[in-house]
Amino acid sequence: MKTTLIYFYLIVLYFKPANAQDIPANVYYPNGMVVTAHPEASKVGLAILKKGGNAIDAAVAVQFALAVVYPNAGNIGGGGFMVYRGAKGEISTLDFREKAPALATRNMYLDSTTGNAIVDKSLYGHLASGVPGSVDGMVKAHAKYGKLPWQTLLLPAIKLAKYGFKITAMQAKELNKNKANFLKYNPSGTALLKQIDDWKLGDTLIQTQLSQTLIAIKNKGRAGFYQGKVAKCLISEINRGQGIISQKDLNNYQSIWRKPITGFYKNYKIITMPPPSSGGIALIQLLHAVENYPLAKWGANKDSTVQIMVEAERRVYADRATHMGDPDFYAVPQAQLLAKKYQKQRMQNFNWNAATPSHMVKAGELWARQSEETTHFCVVDKQGNAVSITTTLNGLYGSLVVVSGAGFLLNNEMDDFSVKPGSPNLYGLVGGEANAIAPNKRMLSSMTPTIIEQAGKLFMVVGTPGGSTIITSVFQAVLNVLEFNKTAQQAVSFPRFHHQWLPDEVFVEHNALNDSTQNYLNQKGYKITPREPMGRVEVILKTPKGLQGGADTRGDDCSLGY
Ligand code: GLY
Repeated sequence: MKTTLIYFYLIVLYFKPANAQDIPANVYYPNGMVVTAHPEASKVGLAILKKGGNAIDAAVAVQFALAVVYPNAGNIGGGGFMVYRGAKGEISTLDFREKAPALATRNMYLDSTTGNAIVDKSLYGHLASGVPGSVDGMVKAHAKYGKLPWQTLLLPAIKLAKYGFKITAMQAKELNKNKANFLKYNPSGTALLKQIDDWKLGDTLIQTQLSQTLIAIKNKGRAGFYQGKVAKCLISEINRGQGIISQKDLNNYQSIWRKPITGFYKNYKIITMPPPSSGGIALIQLLHAVENYPLAKWGANKDSTVQIMVEAERRVYADRATHMGDPDFYAVPQAQLLAKKYQKQRMQNFNWNAATPSHMVKAGELWARQSEETTHFCVVDKQGNAVSITTTLNGLYGSLVVVSGAGFLLNNEMDDFSVKPGSPNLYGLVGGEANAIAPNKRMLSSMTPTIIEQAGKLFMVVGTPGGSTIITSVFQAVLNVLEFNKTAQQAVSFPRFHHQWLPDEVFVEHNALNDSTQNYLNQKGYKITPREPMGRVEVILKTPKGLQGGADTRGDDCSLGY
């Protein structure tokens, strides 16, 4: 009991709740908006819009800028997903998720004697990386929809890398915390490592090698990254650490345009990401599960609302576990999962009097542990084109390996596979066949970049990082707007809760549930566990008065408009 209290107290201290003075005044912009995890990246996106660039141009410039100013998750050595809605209503999604290298094998992270997963092997170092997709993704997005010249979009990131930018207090803290890790995986040093003293607020971070890499991408596009000097540096870095990515993997990598997942919640059309992300299907399933309940009457984060959302989450995450993986390798039963009738059936054994124990919910198995360091950004331009991108290295600073001579971090996305399908991993979680490792396969994701229409018109752009909590954080942000009438900023700042089937606990941020709601849930058998902040949700709303942005107060996030 004493330990629980101390733990709770530490979390309260750690978590700075969003309060009124943190939240910018409710402002509207007529022309365009950019919301990202870092003020410098938001400035880059806004400048591109003001120069006459469209939402895709701004998004491409932001993706490269985040690789410089937000090395936690912004990247060229990782991957992501984009959901796009053009001003005339055309929709598309781009999958630039990393792929397993051709030499990947199902049991590559298992001890050959014991058959158990080897601690951290899929998480850190050169073997943890999938083949990066971000640069190919940006090239394809720009080729299809971009307006400004490619070179123009790289210039701001090059400048930020070459001349540096001032780091925030949060960044100084995170970089210092990882000093030993950076040294371990990069013994010859990296720009992210301050050798003698510690980083502090306002220090300038200069990344010369990264600026050279970005110049190569500016001049040669895809070939500037997947071939030539940058590729050579990448492969020799991989070889130094006994990784398995080859030049052939780089040559073969292709991002893919995929048919968006769409569904309806009341009269709102949800446009979101298909597999290999589980996020889009899961979000629509969750919305279907709660659609017929009077949430607005019950209130946000209030007893019955939380109970029904948690029970929906329990069931949907169990489905995610069993049924989802890379659609190029596994037949995801998408149509069935998305049917409203199916969700109704799934909720039939829900009982208002008591929590449904998770072990009763599902014959299916799987829960793959996911890291929470990813980043999301939203852009809307003057014409009304909208972009929602979630991009990731997976863990904080990915594999922690910075490519020597090229200055960029490599992802540790291989850990998003089920390292050992069918039996519990180190964390007591089990993985499924659908997400087993195979050569050239994409690992399952929870990233949920989403765009919502109302009456055929753009209404909301939303997404977040947060590993397994991504889906529930987007779910809550969407309901905060659609049901609880919150502004964009209120919707993202509002405290969150999360259930993911296994473990069978309701994880809650500080102040997410009041005493009466907690008592109500406790009495029905729900286990409530306080935890650190979840996600960093970004939102743009298109209202009759103009564009309204919500940048999560849990980080340095920033919304800018004009
Ligand atoms: N790496 C986190 C995700 O893809 O969901």
